[in-house]
Amino acid sequence: MRTVTRCFSFGLSFSLFLLITPMLSAQQDEVIYDEAKIPKFTLPDPLTGPDGAKIETAADWEQKQRPWLLEKFETQVYGKAPPAPEKISYKVTESSDEVMGGKARRRQVAIQLTDDPEGPVLNLLLYLPKSKEPVATFFALNFYGNASIGSDPAVPLPTSWLRNNREKGVEDHKASEKIRGTSSSRWPIEMILDRGYGLATAYYGDIDPDFDDGFQDGIHPYFYEKGQTTPNPDQWGSIAAWAWGMSRGLDYLQRNPEVDGEKVIVMGHSRLGKTALWAGASDPRFAAVISNDSGCGGAALSRRRFGESVKRINTSFPHWFCDNFVQYNNNEDACPVDQHELIALIAPRPCLVCSAEDDRWADPHGEFLSAHYASPVYKLLGVGGLATDTWPKPNEPVLSRLGYQIRPGKHDVMKSDWENDLDFADRHVTGKAK
Ligand code: GCU
Repeated sequence: MRTVTRCFSFGLSFSLFLLITPMLSAQQDEVIYDEAKIPKFTLPDPLTGPDGAKIETAADWEQKQRPWLLEKFETQVYGKAPPAPEKISYKVTESSDEVMGGKARRRQVAIQLTDDPEGPVLNLLLYLPKSKEPVATFFALNFYGNASIGSDPAVPLPTSWLRNNREKGVEDHKASEKIRGTSSSRWPIEMILDRGYGLATAYYGDIDPDFDDGFQDGIHPYFYEKGQTTPNPDQWGSIAAWAWGMSRGLDYLQRNPEVDGEKVIVMGHSRLGKTALWAGASDPRFAAVISNDSGCGGAALSRRRFGESVKRINTSFPHWFCDNFVQYNNNEDACPVDQHELIALIAPRPCLVCSAEDDRWADPHGEFLSAHYASPVYKLLGVGGLATDTWPKPNEPVLSRLGYQIRPGKHDVMKSDWENDLDFADRHVTGKAK
């Protein structure tokens, strides 16, 4: 069996961990919040090929193992996405060089997601610091529309389907003026610009509304074969669609000369953290990847079943992953891959995994272990792995090229998260810091 031939020979800490963890019934549905209750498991080794042979060179990784792993994530976890549309078409809908008291620029761009001019549009909002040179830029999707990220009155309300939310003034799935700035604590725009970076964002529901409607709305129907009404079991769910949409955003960013298209950092929180990891893994044009509290189906190891499990996520959010992923409900060990290999797919590019101490649903320790077990791939590729073998304490970020940080507090994006993200980008993307 692949999981046997590809298993890691772990160091002491992992072997001990295996020995002391009692076996739980694979059928149990209790949410595990206790390390001692994690069932015994063996992780697949990213550096063992499907035939059991060790991957010992960067060339073997790039030519054999990486494509094999990528294909497994595509067909078993997120689902295969279609190729990019033939034409890249976009329209600048608004532009200003006098933003934030004149220190920044704003661009708003409607990006056509398909070759059909009537098809879905990704409305991208881009803030740029005034700079003579193209700037490195963070690209992160948002949950409630571009107008929710700040108080800027020039940003229109989202028109795509939104989840109802009284506090944000969303009724009948439509935004109202009340939404403006309601997510601003997660978006320290001025701080990002003051540090010399651009910030691009777009509403994820422009790509695919986040509810289970059998993939009748959003981007999916535009790619059905004749007679097809729903994606095949190995075809894209919503996370893959959001990631694909980010690649379309990147198509545009790489054509805007104000942006350094070789230095676009994909970042995301929670389900959009899962999306950021998959976008970075599946599209090597992203220069670096940052996941925040991404949890199950993101950075957390599925085999740990700690907090949210594969069965829970597939039950609550049946549209997020491809249908093939359902066979791993209560059956994680049968999956040919685990999430450390998702991070390995990003190697040798910089990747920062961020956790929050109280966010146990997302399994912070499992998020750390994923980075830890992806490390051998970074090392093989000659860039050094995660610069610690032990789970760091809160507020002690490890900003190595494969990095990890945990902070106190809940599932959220805080200013301090962005401070670390910016420090990480300074070191590994722009070289502003060592
Ligand atoms: C739920 C879900 C998580 C997800 C989170 C979010 O909590 O179970 O997997 O990360 O929503 O996206 O906010």
